[in-house]
Amino acid sequence: MAKSKTIYYCQNCGAQHATWMGKCSQCGEWNTIVEEVVEKNAKKTPWQEDNTKKPVLFNIKDIPETSETRIITHNDELDRVLGGGIVLGSVILLGGEPGIGKSTLLLQVALSLKHLKVLYVSGEESASQIKLRAERIGIETEDCYILTETQTQKIFKQAKSIQPQILIIDSIQTLQSEYVESSPGSVSQIRECTSELIKFAKTTNVPVILVGHITKEGSIAGPKILEHMVDVVLQFEGERNHLYRLLRAQKNRFGSTAELGIYEMQGSGLREVSNPSEVLISPKDTPLSGNAIAATLEGIRPMLIEIQALVSTAVYGTPQRSTTGFDIKRLNMLLAVLEKRAGFQLGSKDVFLNITGGIRVDDPAIDLAVLCAILSSYENEPLPDNCCFAGEIGLSGEVRPVNRIEKRIIEAEKLGYDVIFISKHNKVKTSNFQIRVEMLGTVGDLYRMLF
Ligand code: TYD
Ligand code: MG
Repeated sequence: MAKSKTIYYCQNCGAQHATWMGKCSQCGEWNTIVEEVVEKNAKKTPWQEDNTKKPVLFNIKDIPETSETRIITHNDELDRVLGGGIVLGSVILLGGEPGIGKSTLLLQVALSLKHLKVLYVSGEESASQIKLRAERIGIETEDCYILTETQTQKIFKQAKSIQPQILIIDSIQTLQSEYVESSPGSVSQIRECTSELIKFAKTTNVPVILVGHITKEGSIAGPKILEHMVDVVLQFEGERNHLYRLLRAQKNRFGSTAELGIYEMQGSGLREVSNPSEVLISPKDTPLSGNAIAATLEGIRPMLIEIQALVSTAVYGTPQRSTTGFDIKRLNMLLAVLEKRAGFQLGSKDVFLNITGGIRVDDPAIDLAVLCAILSSYENEPLPDNCCFAGEIGLSGEVRPVNRIEKRIIEAEKLGYDVIFISKHNKVKTSNFQIRVEMLGTVGDLYRMLF
């Protein structure tokens, strides 16, 4: 007979406790412990039966070299973020806010994998809803199977009969394993279902893609160990009211986490944005003050983005500082540098900063463009036409070199810019480029050159 007991789980680290506590003694987080009644039945899954082989011991020298086999999805942005396609037998978790387009992205991938058999399991939508969405996306395919089911064992049975080459689960929070008797979405269910799916992926070599809901704090709902268990964690983000969606890898056992995929949500699904610079810079008839172009790098892909700043006299006592897409602490630091090293009195000014397109950038090389946008708004004077910037600002007001400067210069040149401002410590041969390359030492040099 099934045994039932009450366990207290920490939703952050997944630790089990015998009693409820306000603070998890394992990870130190407050208010993360939830009560769950767990009934564990003796377990036997179709995938575990054949798993009773003795463990085999290898000397690492003797393991034959294998290259990972990858499925190319032909969705270039996704392939790049994954490090070159989906690795066979891997488990990928795709997280994102509701309505951001997770289901759309995965259905689109499922439909475009024409040469492969795909099983798309949905616990959230009915088959006809999925069909409607597929019609909207408008890709015809032969071998895409839709299953609306939430019981893991039934999903495995179907998988055994259909023999798919990719399994997509939308979403992990709706799944339920019959071996754990708690409600779907609870910590123990999520953990159990994920580990069953991981076993399925590893034994059959079929890649599994899971959709994960996120909590209002922005982390994937369920225990943090969910992210430790899977091979790849992808985050789909963007402002819901903006068109652009960004796909990032937070963890990737088979590639870099620095890559960024950009999509545009359209009436007929997600369109890949293969040349982000062109869409992220708004066309202008007259030069405007407070705008500067930064030559940034996402992963190894260079792109030019527009920074907008507005500096105005503070109406209320405490000046406001607000940013969209940029770290506010970094902005405060740049303002302090301007004040202390270049003598600008910004202490009584409101400063607003916006990176257009609703994207978030962490590259320190955009510091220089941020500073120029602020100065341009402060002076109410547009920056010279057709110039862009790539440099990091140090605390003593020096312009510091940034990595892969040649790539940034080439991108700026390709897009028809006339001048790029960089740090004088960046070792480049300016004669190699047609674009004019201006070298800067300090923030003071910059001001003298531009205003
Ligand atoms: P959805 O993929 O259901 O989001 P998630 O699974 O992340 O919750 O879709 C999100 C939104 O995208 C939805 O509000 C409607 C919009 N959308 C389009 O604009 N165009 C389309 O072709 C599709 C399918 C959806
Ligand atoms: Mg969905």
